[in-house]
Amino acid sequence: MHHQWLLLAACFWVIFMFMVASKFITLTFKDPDVYSAKQEFLFLTTMPEVGKLAEEKPFPEELKVTGKVLPDSRLVQPLVYMERLELIRNVCRDEALKNLSHTAVSKFVLDRIFVCDKHKILFCQTPKVGNTQWKKVLIVLNGAFPSIEEIPENVVHDHEKNGLPRLSSFSNAEIQKRLKTYFKFFIVRDPFERLISAFKDKFVHNPRFEPWYRHEIAPGIIRKYRRNRTETRGIQFEDFVRYLGDPNHRWLDLQFGDHIIHWVTYVELCAPCEIKYSVIGHHETLEDDAPYILKEAGIDHLVSYPTIPPGITVYNRTKVEHYFLGISKRDIRRLYARFEGDFKLFGYQKPDFLLN
Ligand SMILES: *[C@@H]1O[C@H](CO)[C@@H](O)[C@H](O)[C@H]1NC(C)=O
Ligand SMILES: *[C@@H]1O[C@H](CO)[C@@H](O)[C@H](O)[C@H]1NC(C)=O
Ligand SMILES: *[C@@H]1O[C@H](CO)[C@@H](O)[C@H](O)[C@H]1NC(C)=O
Repeated sequence: MHHQWLLLAACFWVIFMFMVASKFITLTFKDPDVYSAKQEFLFLTTMPEVGKLAEEKPFPEELKVTGKVLPDSRLVQPLVYMERLELIRNVCRDEALKNLSHTAVSKFVLDRIFVCDKHKILFCQTPKVGNTQWKKVLIVLNGAFPSIEEIPENVVHDHEKNGLPRLSSFSNAEIQKRLKTYFKFFIVRDPFERLISAFKDKFVHNPRFEPWYRHEIAPGIIRKYRRNRTETRGIQFEDFVRYLGDPNHRWLDLQFGDHIIHWVTYVELCAPCEIKYSVIGHHETLEDDAPYILKEAGIDHLVSYPTIPPGITVYNRTKVEHYFLGISKRDIRRLYARFEGDFKLFGYQKPDFLLN
């Protein structure tokens, strides 16, 4: 008798989930013309998940709407995160992508991972994806400062003063212990949009006053990769793309040292096939992913993620098209060939609109 009730409850649950899913589908396939300008723009975003589910995945705004309808939005949410991890497991097993998905857990990788011992958290740094904010969260958790607002901007990246040790600073046994037992996460975003962001931040605006990008790294790239020798302008996105897509890029990487963290692949930074991460956050859905990560890490009652300015996490295809305009297909294909592992592992759609 008891079993029958359970079965009945399970059936109702399945029907309920199906109704929720079909709601998403109808929302997603609505005629884009009926959307306002902003929503129409949202329609152009790359879906973070590949495959069939990509079409059915709701936009962040819609997730919030359904969250009100559901008694507990967490019922559906964790599925997204489990699918991300499963996708990584599958892509890691793909022999054809082996060179693009695997890397050694070297000192370079261990340097990227920050440790919060107090709450058993490891955070792998992926620049240009809201890392400063996550570092601030962990600095507060480690107790060096009482609140995020009180951390001076210059201390966030000063690892002598911020009380946020790198995993590489521990002994081998201590590293293994933490990798095995701690909550581990990092954040990704569309790989090409990330490169545009890195290019703008380091070579165009350079807000943190790091003159070596424009005065040493840029001339190094131009010397080797500028196609038009009579062109005297400063570094262009095209030069940067040709450098990154060159199979022999390592030759220059070695000269640039750790500055390459701003443009090497997520694979090279965080070793997602070697280290079993607990959650992968997506910049495009950060409004949902940040609270989820805090909750899963068991720290949501202690800190909250700083307010995310509206619109900044949305994938902007117009911007991507604009930056790649005039760059040869061959160079873009070589760039994609290098970043294919990142696209596949994290479920970002291949940017066919640039490649064909
Ligand atoms: C992977 O890398 C190895 C060593 O660098 C190379 O010999 C091999 O051809 C590469 N495989 C693919 C599929 O690119
Ligand atoms: C090379 O750059 C110069 C200077 O900007 C420009 O005048 C010339 O047209 C360019 N040549 C080609 C082939 O693009
Ligand atoms: C997308 O990028 C373009 C070009 O950089 C910009 O003009 C536009 O405002 C951006 N759209 C949004 C919604 O941010």
